[in-house]
Amino acid sequence: MSRGFTSQMARNIFYGGTLFFVLLFAALIFDTEQRIPKRSNAGELTPAVVRGKHIWETRNCIGCHTLLGEGAYFAPELGNVYKRRGPDFIKAWIKAQPTGAPGRRQMPNFQLDDKQLDDLVEFLRWTNGIDTEKWPPNVEG
Ligand code: HEC
Repeated sequence: MSRGFTSQMARNIFYGGTLFFVLLFAALIFDTEQRIPKRSNAGELTPAVVRGKHIWETRNCIGCHTLLGEGAYFAPELGNVYKRRGPDFIKAWIKAQPTGAPGRRQMPNFQLDDKQLDDLVEFLRWTNGIDTEKWPPNVEG
């Protein structure tokens, strides 16, 4: 005769379920780890890219902009700005700040020289090469 739902059965479900999900999460972690190198393979981390990242960090661009969605929402996303505007526009834009255009948010002038601008563009080019699985969904994102 059935004794109904016993504490032994409950324990087995608990241990079995725990083991199942631990293994599932381990498999998912392993799968993600396998994919990361391919997705972040945005080209070689040249010294120029590294210098550009340093400029990006020390000038606190992220205090106004987002990069791949992370950062502040005061100014446009820049993860894809290389594709959207191209290197010449980016350099000319940074040199021409602030625009003083009425009613528009302003970006400061960082007094960067041509070499620093080239490095910054290299960093933005590298970032643009990261496989974000088509994010942002529109190029102005
Ligand atoms: C104080 C806030 C602020 C900081 C800091 C800042 N920006 Fe900006 N940036 C803006 C704003 C606001 C705009 C958009 C202005 C407009 O459209 O009139 C902009 C626009 C841009 C654009 C053009 C984007 C496009 O889609 O046309 C680029 C490129 C850019 N910024 C790069 C940088 C870089 C690189 C840094 C760091 C060195 C930086 N910004 C730091 C406020 C900032």
